[in-house]
Amino acid sequence: MAIRKIGVLTGGGDCPGLNPAIRAITRKGISLGWEVHGIHDGYEGLIHGRSKKLGSDDVSNILSRGGTILGTSNKASPFDLVDGEEKETDRTGKALANIDRWKLDALFCIGGDGTLTIANKLSEMWPNVIGLPKTIDNDLMCTDQTFGFNTACTFVTDALDRLHSTADAHHRVMVVEVMGRYAGWIALQGGLAGGGDVILLPEMPFKREKIVEAIADRTRRGRRSSIIVVSEGAHAEGEKLTVREVVKDSPDPVRLGGIGQRIADFVESETGHESRVTVLGHLQRGGSPSFFDRILATGCGTAAVEFASEGKFGNMVALKGKDLVPVPLSEATAGLKLVTPEDVLVKTAKALGTSFGV
Ligand code: F6P
Repeated sequence: MAIRKIGVLTGGGDCPGLNPAIRAITRKGISLGWEVHGIHDGYEGLIHGRSKKLGSDDVSNILSRGGTILGTSNKASPFDLVDGEEKETDRTGKALANIDRWKLDALFCIGGDGTLTIANKLSEMWPNVIGLPKTIDNDLMCTDQTFGFNTACTFVTDALDRLHSTADAHHRVMVVEVMGRYAGWIALQGGLAGGGDVILLPEMPFKREKIVEAIADRTRRGRRSSIIVVSEGAHAEGEKLTVREVVKDSPDPVRLGGIGQRIADFVESETGHESRVTVLGHLQRGGSPSFFDRILATGCGTAAVEFASEGKFGNMVALKGKDLVPVPLSEATAGLKLVTPEDVLVKTAKALGTSFGV
């Protein structure tokens, strides 16, 4: 099938690297003689029929820009998915009618787990879909890394560097809460690069007494300040996640947040060390993409267009070593890629004396 017209959308939470990916799809698509349409605000634009034609100039000077020139939404879904269960309000008819009206021959969905799960379902109804893996959480299966993650970890590392000096000056325990949802990749890699003394991950439920032991041990060794990096999804053994908000109209309604303050309060009362908490929040998602994320997102964009030109639909572009390869969307969205206690970086951190509170 000859491709004449393609659509591209960015869905879910934004992250650095979306614009380089849009730029690559647009420029590579135009080089093949295709017409490129940018769909506004993720699946919201697909459902409500909002898009604009993208020319080469429209994607000039966006390599270094965070966010997405197309806008995004982490609420809209043509399937109205709620916790994976379909509700009655099915808007797939509207989405498919717009694909038909725009005469699209291929649709590129740039997203994380939520967006690509929807892309996979959509591809069962209209096959010409290709996914690109973005998310700061790095929790997508089948790919070594997602774009956005490197920039987020670089920011966390920089934040930890800054917090070490003020922690040292006041002999405090600084608790730093990072994002990542149910996956601890940001806490693990940012914490390792930034020299966190204690790293708490969702995948390794902690024991409070182990955190106290780790701080006491540092005190015995003459260290008067400590840094605790806590993932927003971390929790004590047998305890529930700390939920900040439930966004009812979102396909994934739970928003985590607040565990950092709970840890700081506990550490201060149990160890007597003055503690402060810093929540890095959406700063991890904003700003210019790192060198690595620009290269990865650009590579994913061009590979996605190549896969479409070869008819390899229903796939996500995945990084495997140095290669970008197609993997079925169904496999990439079959579950979340989580940290395991056997991960080489967990072992590396442990070898250096980092405590995981277990
Ligand atoms: O999935 C990306 C992410 O930034 C998570 O790390 C975080 O839990 C969530 O999105 C925050 O969502 P929102 O922007 O809706 O608060």
